[in-house]
Amino acid sequence: MSDTALFPLTDEHKMIRDAARDFATNEIAPIAAEFDESGEFPLKTIKKMGEMGFMGIEVPEAYGGAGMDTLAYVLALEEICKVDASHGVIMSVNNSLYCHGIMNFGTEPQKQKFLTPVASGKAIGAYSLTEPMSGSDAGTMRTRAVRDGEEYVLNGRKSWVTSGPVAEYIVAFFMTDPEKKHKGITAFLVEADRPGFVRGKKEPKLGIRASATSELVFEDCRVPLENRLGEEGDGFKIAMTVLDAGRIGIASQALGIAEASYEASLAYAREREAFGQKIGEFQGISFKLADMKTRIEASRLLIYNAAMAKQQSKGTAKRYTLQSSTAKLFASETAMFCAHAAVQIHGGIGYSKEVPVERYFRDAKITEIYEGTSEIQRLVISRSELGLR
Ligand code: CAA
Repeated sequence: MSDTALFPLTDEHKMIRDAARDFATNEIAPIAAEFDESGEFPLKTIKKMGEMGFMGIEVPEAYGGAGMDTLAYVLALEEICKVDASHGVIMSVNNSLYCHGIMNFGTEPQKQKFLTPVASGKAIGAYSLTEPMSGSDAGTMRTRAVRDGEEYVLNGRKSWVTSGPVAEYIVAFFMTDPEKKHKGITAFLVEADRPGFVRGKKEPKLGIRASATSELVFEDCRVPLENRLGEEGDGFKIAMTVLDAGRIGIASQALGIAEASYEASLAYAREREAFGQKIGEFQGISFKLADMKTRIEASRLLIYNAAMAKQQSKGTAKRYTLQSSTAKLFASETAMFCAHAAVQIHGGIGYSKEVPVERYFRDAKITEIYEGTSEIQRLVISRSELGLR
């Protein structure tokens, strides 16, 4: 947290930020490199994060959450991601892509059954929209849900599901009426122990390697009517509304990676000597640091602004799509810029697994891709500004 930030933080904000920082430093930092290397899911630390209230920060206590606001969520997430983006994305998806959708569109029985175990961290939640042939163009999905009496029968293959190999509950989107295109998409809540639900191929990834990502396969998987989230045909709007929240989380993840890259570079520039002086005294290095710092502070302001917009939208139909997409676009490109500069500033050692900047470099890239690529964010922002949607 920068001392230049203008946002007035309450004692509660400072408390969760400091708790997340301490947890990340004491519990995650010692294992981050090892789990990155093995690609093993860090279940023990994720469970502990659940016990600390980090897995459902904005969910009311009545449903197992911490009952805090959006600024508290981004502050905590930033601290976790500053140490390890893998733990960060598991936390982000659980909070914003899973819990947020059920909070906003779930019935009371759905909140009791599907929200409480996940917000309290006892179970892990996932969000499944993407398919092998439907990524950025999310409205063209091929998976099908067909009503059969008091049940729906789900069929098809989903891909790139964060926490797919471990999630106990999934919010997933299926086409119920292909002729209606995006207006024919419906959202469902699926328990992972249902017959016909199969976890597919696990993705071997460049970065965020300790987070588990996989395909999900539905083979005549039957869910009762009460597992439908919202009405038939509401699915695309639910998916997009949830992504507005999710993108603030990914922006915070990017900010954490950028800050970690910057702080490592600053320390190295102060201590490493070349040509008889500290490398930070060379303008080629110091100007890089200045650009990193400026972009980080700008990202922070965009993210906190988006968090405030989301907070103020609660209980209203007001959208914060523009704030969320601008924050995600700028912060993710800042993460990539800072991680790239960090490796360059470190030189040879920056390319080695002996220091974590090579991990930051690998982790940063995904923030420009998932939950809407930078190109999709530019589409959303420009359409909004031009009044095209
Ligand atoms: N909130 C509410 N409604 C929205 C909305 C939003 N943010 N965005 C669009 N809509 C509504 C529109 O108002 C429109 O409604 P009407 O039909 O009533 O007019 C409807 O949805 C269709 O909107 P568009 O015409 O804009 O739709 P489009 O087909 O042109 O696509 C898009 C829009 C922005 C490109 C969208 O498809 C998109 O965001 N694509 C990216 C998908 C994405 O982010 N995927 C990531 C998946 S999650 C992940 O990464 C994995 C993980 O586990 C982390």
